[in-house]
Amino acid sequence: MAFRSPLINVMASAATKAARGLKRDFGEVENLQVSKKGPADFVSVADKKAEEVLHAELSRVRPDFGFVMEEGGIIEGSDKSHRWIIDPLDGTTNFLHGLPQFAISIGVERDGEIIAGLIYNPIADEMYWAEKGAGAYCNDRRLRVAARKDLKECVIATGIPFHGRGDHLRFLKELGLVMREVAGVRRFGAASLDLAFVASGRFDGFWETELQSWDIAAGIILVREAGGVVTDQRGAKKVLHAPEIVAGNEIVHEKLRRLIERAGLPPKKPAAKKSAAKAET
Ligand code: IPD
Ligand code: CA
Ligand code: CA
Ligand code: CA
Repeated sequence: MAFRSPLINVMASAATKAARGLKRDFGEVENLQVSKKGPADFVSVADKKAEEVLHAELSRVRPDFGFVMEEGGIIEGSDKSHRWIIDPLDGTTNFLHGLPQFAISIGVERDGEIIAGLIYNPIADEMYWAEKGAGAYCNDRRLRVAARKDLKECVIATGIPFHGRGDHLRFLKELGLVMREVAGVRRFGAASLDLAFVASGRFDGFWETELQSWDIAAGIILVREAGGVVTDQRGAKKVLHAPEIVAGNEIVHEKLRRLIERAGLPPKKPAAKKSAAKAET
């Protein structure tokens, strides 16, 4: 049995509680109230309820920590060092279409560095978790990124920019460059799980543009603790607010990064809000 620290236990129990509602609502998707935050950017009552449970549970056990949440925004804590970075339902579009690829994602930031992460897919009952220096796990199994080095044998995941967001032409260029070199490309629709799958060796690599800190905070530490590399498209390690991220084992990461670089670099994101900009890893 893998040793889980008190911090990981707190995250696991909050995620398990929030997941109960998601599992219930997943079977009743047609009865869910859904609204649009922007083009092809949906939010349902399930996202909001899960976030409320996570916020209530985590603030009960760590009342001083701040929060960065996809739906609720930023809540400052009295402890200025620690913040939870939360996506209550990563893969909303999958969830609303009855596709069982979605997850709760919780990252912990301490003084600008991600020190722990947990990603829970309640349908597969797979809980991925990692803590700085303590390794990465799925349930009780220790994770290690895949060892493949030859791109021709690699399965690479990506995300297709949503309607109205991102540079579709540049993405198609990147896709064309990658497709020619690898065994297969996948788009599963939940960035947190894409990173968890890199950590577990199911995917050899992953790249995506236009992600938010809550999509990737937990996944970044999972991949790193599983022996992998995560950077932006230029190779910089500060990636939480980067326009594009690339992940894989050391060799695949660099090959993938160089490939997509040939499509040109995405424009720099406008500076993040003051408190959100603090979180860099
Ligand atoms: C989305 C998913 C998806 C990614 C999008 C994200 P959401 O998160 O992670 O894989 O391609 O960019 O917005 O909105 O379902 O939490
Ligand atoms: Ca969303
Ligand atoms: Ca997300
Ligand atoms: Ca979400």
